[in-house]
Amino acid sequence: MPKIPPAPCLFVMFGGTGDLMERKILPTLYQLAASGMLNNKFHILGIARDESIDDAKFRIWARKALAGTKGKTAAKIRQWCDAHLHYQPVAQTDPAAYERLAMRLSTLERATGLPGNRVFYLALPPGAFPGTIESLGKAGLNTSTGWTRLVIEKPFGRDLKSAQDLNLLAHKYFEETQIYRIDHYLGKETVQNLLAFRFGNALFEPLWNRDHIESVQITVAESLGIEDRAGYYENAGALRDMVQNHLTQLLTLTAMEAPAAFEADAIRYEKVKVLRSLAPITDDNVVFGQYAASKDKKMQGYRDEPGVAARSQMETFVALRLEIENWRWQGVPFILRTGKRMPRRVTEIAIQFRKPPIALFRALDGENPHTNSLVITVQPDEGFELSFEVKVPGEGFSLKTQRMAFRYADVFGPLPDGYETLLMDVIEGDQTLFVHADEAEASWQFYTPLLDKKPKPHPYPAGTCGPKAADEMGEACGTNWRPL
Ligand code: BG6
Repeated sequence: MPKIPPAPCLFVMFGGTGDLMERKILPTLYQLAASGMLNNKFHILGIARDESIDDAKFRIWARKALAGTKGKTAAKIRQWCDAHLHYQPVAQTDPAAYERLAMRLSTLERATGLPGNRVFYLALPPGAFPGTIESLGKAGLNTSTGWTRLVIEKPFGRDLKSAQDLNLLAHKYFEETQIYRIDHYLGKETVQNLLAFRFGNALFEPLWNRDHIESVQITVAESLGIEDRAGYYENAGALRDMVQNHLTQLLTLTAMEAPAAFEADAIRYEKVKVLRSLAPITDDNVVFGQYAASKDKKMQGYRDEPGVAARSQMETFVALRLEIENWRWQGVPFILRTGKRMPRRVTEIAIQFRKPPIALFRALDGENPHTNSLVITVQPDEGFELSFEVKVPGEGFSLKTQRMAFRYADVFGPLPDGYETLLMDVIEGDQTLFVHADEAEASWQFYTPLLDKKPKPHPYPAGTCGPKAADEMGEACGTNWRPL
């Protein structure tokens, strides 16, 4: 919690009446304001196309969105909305609308005593990013009398070319130090804790390499299907939606070298190095899947979801085996999987250590000891678990696997939402948890060849762990997927 509230600012929200604003951004900003984390001079200007909305209607809409806020009365919410929320209609790329916007910003800042610090948050469909950035730039809104920051929600591009084009356009008007590309996984406490865990402890780092680690397994499993997002998902699929961003962030944070300093650029530089060391993916190292109806028919298949094409080939599951070709990781398989409609929701990173060099106990109990593992649970039930072997007391000499566990909830209570961290960082100007231009491009560069020749998805019944072919791929590199 900052001791001094951050600088006053105007938070300009494109997609101001959209789903993300309603579910996440507005409630989070309200909570931050209510707990004294924001400057009293913090104002929100909602932007959408709808010209029939004015300040009063926007405030009523916002009050409804905030109605469920715990511990806050309707009067308190109303008071805050009336004092801090404003609305401006802007048709997407109409230059006159952007001129009006520029005037509105100046008037609002004068009236509320703001120094010109501005956040432009783009929570828009990806097709609207270029036009909006260009229009902001042309209207001179890339600079102000204070600082100006541009926040771009995911997805940042849909392949290498589009990400490069978007970077080029953004850099035409904004410096990289002004641009905040969101990957909400970076806001999760447990994801940030990967840095603390690896580089704040002397215990693990000496073991964190090919000499001691047999394999690394990263799972992001979801029990939900695509819900009502067919329009988006039919153009995205799991590789774009989850792998290129969220799983790849988990991969780079797990595999990166220690940064020279705990600073945004130093950390992002090390992550890019991992991406550039990835060996190209070959056909036998990737499996795509698509959920079909569940065995009991209670959950429908992907192709039966409203809005999905009857013969859609879009993947809802991806399993990959990756190789990082550097001194630390050469020869260690990193296996990644993600899927919708899997048996449960879990995100975890499992580090499987190598066997002891000598099988000292094999002759005694006829079995090899299990290898040690460290499982970092990113969500839910955040924490980690280290497994090790002990001798079973009594006669003979048999071994049993035991676990040492740490759960965040036991020590710290509920964890803050990732957006809380990310929004505070934008307002305070810390880019550590945002994706750098180079990082976005390096990631797309790696995945674009696979996007160009996507394999056909194997069907898997909803509620199961994915297609058999993914198990076979795991077995082929000597690893079994952890049960879900
Ligand atoms: C989003 C994807 O980025 O992440 C969704 O678009 C996915 O498809 C979601 O469900 C998962 O996020 P979380 O935080 O619930 O793991």
